[in-house]
Amino acid sequence: MKNKKFEATFEFAKNWLNYKNLAGPTQEVMITPIVKQKLKIAGISLCDLGCGDGELTHKLSELNPKEVIGIDINRTLIKLAIKRQIPNSTFHLCNAAYEKLPIMDSAIDLFFSSNMFMHLNNDEVQFSLKECYRVLKNGGQISFLVTHLNWAKSNYILKQVNDDTFYTKRLVWSLSAVEHYRSTQFYSNLLTDTGFQFFQETDVIIPNDNRLNIRYLSQAGLPLFSLLCAFKP
Ligand SMILES: C[S@@+](CC[C@H](N)C(=O)[O-])C[C@H]1O[C@@H](n2cnc3c(N)ncnc32)[C@H](O)[C@@H]1O
Repeated sequence: MKNKKFEATFEFAKNWLNYKNLAGPTQEVMITPIVKQKLKIAGISLCDLGCGDGELTHKLSELNPKEVIGIDINRTLIKLAIKRQIPNSTFHLCNAAYEKLPIMDSAIDLFFSSNMFMHLNNDEVQFSLKECYRVLKNGGQISFLVTHLNWAKSNYILKQVNDDTFYTKRLVWSLSAVEHYRSTQFYSNLLTDTGFQFFQETDVIIPNDNRLNIRYLSQAGLPLFSLLCAFKP
């Protein structure tokens, strides 16, 4: 289904591609020893939600899964992901905020999402996590990266929604770049409410991030992202 987010995303794609120096090192932390171990098993299916231009999807595909599915709301980025010609991959345009994922029930072993949930409001995250749960197999794992609450301190336009959630809209970014900063407690509670068993939370420190608004956080060695992992029992 089309909505105005589809039309507003070109600018986001342009901006996001300028941030690739950050995406790479951040995504590496998602490929944990457990993930590598699981990918040694033959026949693994994985999904990368909010895959953007497919950089993480590509890295994961190098670990030889049986099937790789990338999903994003942004047509421009999906086209770039397809251009990578990742073996056994399919890419889909889908608004995960309120559309069913184009995947059958219990089809996925490993589910990844790097820096997408912060673009969704609280109800949308809830909807999307239910979809992740639906498509995961029993024993399947979800891993996702989200911006740390520290980022909230570095933005200009900020509104506190409740104790756990801050909302900001960057001055120059498009509609799809609305960001929500949440405590990891928010996500772990939601994961548990959805039926997941939450098992890991990791602070992600990127020592050399020179972007003006977060340089001081990076130089102080403060975490910029959180990695959350859970599994479907
Ligand atoms: C910050 S970028 C991260 C891209 C990629 N995962 C990475 O780490 O390089 C956020 C991505 O989420 C996508 N996105 C935002 N809202 C979305 C939604 N409602 N449904 C699907 N994808 C969405 C954006 O188009 C964008 O590609």
